[in-house]
Amino acid sequence: MSGRRPITVVGSINRDIVVYHDTLPRVGETVFAQHLAFGHGGKGANQAFAASRLGGDVVMVGRVGQDDYGALARQVLATEGCAVAGVRTLGELSGQALVLVGRDAGNRILVIKGANGRFTASELERDAALLARGGFVLLQLEIPLETVVLAAEKARACDARVLLDPAPAIALPLELLRVTDILTPNQTELAALTGSAPASPAEVIEAAQQLRARGPGVVIVKMGAEGCLLLDANGHRRFAAPGVAAIDTTGAGDCFNAALAVSLSEDASLADACRFAVAAASLSVTRPGAQASTPQRVEVEDFLAQLARQESCP
Ligand code: RIB
Repeated sequence: MSGRRPITVVGSINRDIVVYHDTLPRVGETVFAQHLAFGHGGKGANQAFAASRLGGDVVMVGRVGQDDYGALARQVLATEGCAVAGVRTLGELSGQALVLVGRDAGNRILVIKGANGRFTASELERDAALLARGGFVLLQLEIPLETVVLAAEKARACDARVLLDPAPAIALPLELLRVTDILTPNQTELAALTGSAPASPAEVIEAAQQLRARGPGVVIVKMGAEGCLLLDANGHRRFAAPGVAAIDTTGAGDCFNAALAVSLSEDASLADACRFAVAAASLSVTRPGAQASTPQRVEVEDFLAQLARQESCP
């Protein structure tokens, strides 16, 4: 597609070890799980993969270890059409994540940082030219915070729009929030970032307003099966998610951010980008895995068309 603006993702790359289970063991207890799967993950790589699959012009900037997985992760991204010049190898193991997926499709994730943890601000300087592409820069928090802050500052200096996924949730310095254009917490992260436990729709809006007052012009709260809430200078707006049979929510938030960025990179409005992102993420939860569950562009478009038909002929 012509006219799309570039997307640069700076973030983590993990090998996912996924255990599908019925019940989690208590301390001292042993239980049987359903099955084990290996997949490609890392919030950064998931966003780069999904943005590429959905039609974005994407460059990934991250660090892998000197192991077989590092080479494979690079290859998987490249095969999807993502440029990997900014994926460099460090003398360390690649990041790994233990992902526990329950019968309710919910996930619990333990991350071993590996090379992601050594992706320092001085390492990022090696890739400064990639941040000068402008367009959109996608960030998350599985690499050192100093690197995220520097990436956001460099991106802003080149007129890029910064999308920050505050996951995993940590206290965010004002210097980062001030250079963030779009902040996309899920409800758990919203609670952690505001020190509250927003439950009702009004409380979610109030918490999002608190975050917006700290710097980002746009806050989009990802609400899983309930869709998302968009808050910007024009006020707030809800985008409902269609009912789907969810089996694995791993990476759905990453798919959402990737789809949002792709849509915005094609000059869609924020509202249309939210609709596209909700549809993409909704399809992703019907399939197992993180990157593996990303729908194709045509699937998302067909799904949106089907939903529009249902709305006009209830
Ligand atoms: O957001 C999902 C991702 O979180 C997984 O792929 C895992 O690697 C962790 O980074």
